[in-house]
Amino acid sequence: MFIVSGSASQELAKKISQITGSNLADLKMKRFPDGECHIKLNSILKGNKVAIIQTTYPDPNLVELLLLLDLANDSLAEEIILVIPYFAYGRQDRAFEDGECISARAIARIVEKSCDSLITVDIHKAEILEQFFNIRAINVSASRNIAEYLQTLPVPAVKPDMIISPDIGCFALAQEVAKILGADSNYLEKKRIDSETVEMKAGDDLDVEGRSIAIVDDIISTGNTIYEAAKFLKNRKASRIDVVCVHGLFLSGDRLSNICDSVASSDTIPSKWSRYSVADSIAGALQLH
Ligand code: R5P
Repeated sequence: MFIVSGSASQELAKKISQITGSNLADLKMKRFPDGECHIKLNSILKGNKVAIIQTTYPDPNLVELLLLLDLANDSLAEEIILVIPYFAYGRQDRAFEDGECISARAIARIVEKSCDSLITVDIHKAEILEQFFNIRAINVSASRNIAEYLQTLPVPAVKPDMIISPDIGCFALAQEVAKILGADSNYLEKKRIDSETVEMKAGDDLDVEGRSIAIVDDIISTGNTIYEAAKFLKNRKASRIDVVCVHGLFLSGDRLSNICDSVASSDTIPSKWSRYSVADSIAGALQLH
């Protein structure tokens, strides 16, 4: 198998190629002065299974992916597995108001024409894969990677007391992590006022006083969700708050570090907050193909 790495996922692709013992395709990429992408492939993909690895955020990486898919098809690869570590536009999975584009479906319709199967990592809603893709599409959970990461934190030495998701949508991921760690789990009730404002509430059963909490979410974008969740839990006297997301966009920079004890994301979107890798989870899914 050849691993073809887009420029958004190079380190991750290298790790996956090492774990799976696959060759990394030799690609030369550059950007023209106007930002357009130029790709030249120096490996022969003909007759081979190929896994293209590319996060689709920000938008130029999506265009780059379309060029890579075209190149792999043109090179007569035997099978093309598309790995999108962070599937951007996953949150627009329906028309919330009349006339809105269902962006997740639009992306699905474009990419599925050029590949045989798809692997995503904690896509915002797993239903997107069933609803919008007609090819084999599987979603890999980073729950084990998150649980292992949490156990490497110096404090708490063993594990957090409770894993909390900042909304019901991510509770399943929080529960999976909690189950692996043998910790309690719960969720907050998030009310989204607009794309940048959220409010938090909790059920009567939530008691965090004196307990160490890990907040687990799929995406940190503006960071407002986590900020409000951490503030809420601090007001309720949680002793420690560690934050772990899968996909970290961190549009508000270091803001969360002022309110949380630690902040981490995976390497689906590489950044200074990438503290753990999902490479082995993706490699496992590729090996099952
Ligand atoms: C929403 O349902 C997601 O799970 C995240 O909680 C959300 O996308 C985070 O966005 P932000 O960081 O902008 O609050």
